[in-house]
Amino acid sequence: MEDFRAIKVETIIVKGKKELKVHNPTAYPMIGIGAQGAVFRLSPKRCVKLYESTHSAYWEAKALKAAKEGTSFPRLHEAGDHYVVMDYLEGPTLQEYVKRHGELPEWACAQVVGILQEMRRFKFARIDTRIGHIIVTSGNKLKVIDHSGAFRTTRRAPFMLLISLEKAGVLLPFLRYAARHHPKLYEKWRDKRREGTDVDRVPRLPRMETLLKEDTK
Ligand SMILES: Nc1ncnc2c1ncn2[C@@H]1O[C@H](COP(=O)(O)OP(=O)(O)O)[C@@H](O)[C@H]1O
Ligand SMILES: [Mg+2]
Repeated sequence: MEDFRAIKVETIIVKGKKELKVHNPTAYPMIGIGAQGAVFRLSPKRCVKLYESTHSAYWEAKALKAAKEGTSFPRLHEAGDHYVVMDYLEGPTLQEYVKRHGELPEWACAQVVGILQEMRRFKFARIDTRIGHIIVTSGNKLKVIDHSGAFRTTRRAPFMLLISLEKAGVLLPFLRYAARHHPKLYEKWRDKRREGTDVDRVPRLPRMETLLKEDTK
């Protein structure tokens, strides 16, 4: 097997913006790239995320270790200075799924709340994700990637998730699900939204009664 450590990821500035530049002398195909790292498929079941900074690698490994008893996270196989080897998750993102099917089914709402609950259980500081980071794996089991910020950003309500759901046109079904099945949690999000600073982009959350009343129509 070739050594994925030969792949180099560095930051360059393009038109004043930070971008990652990848040098890949191996045959491993790149399957994704973000702000922190680039991801390569090593085998049918494994991929490696290579980071520009050792900090990001350290924090992602830490989050995946913390979540190892969870059911919604890729398993961590190996971690090094600049990389993390984890399960390759096969399937469309929840964002692609919603686009294709034109809806966010109830089973997906339930699992998205389940993901947030696992993040809380594993004491993540950022209890948040977005639907582009949730993968619909076989048997419609949702799993979540990109955790290098899990302990570095603090967010007690899933604002990024709500923004991504609104963009995809499926915020309301999710809010109704949450209000009906997790009223305390929903009230907490509303409180955080109201008292929050820096929430301009976060959708306003209707009162619970309003949501539930409309639901019965
Ligand atoms: N475990 C994984 N399985 C399958 N694809 C993945 C996995 N991890 C990352 N990816 C792909 O690589 C992309 C970049 O990874 P991500 O963790 O979001 O990096 P960044 O922290 O730089 O945003 C993702 O959007 C996704 O397409
Ligand atoms: Mg990402």
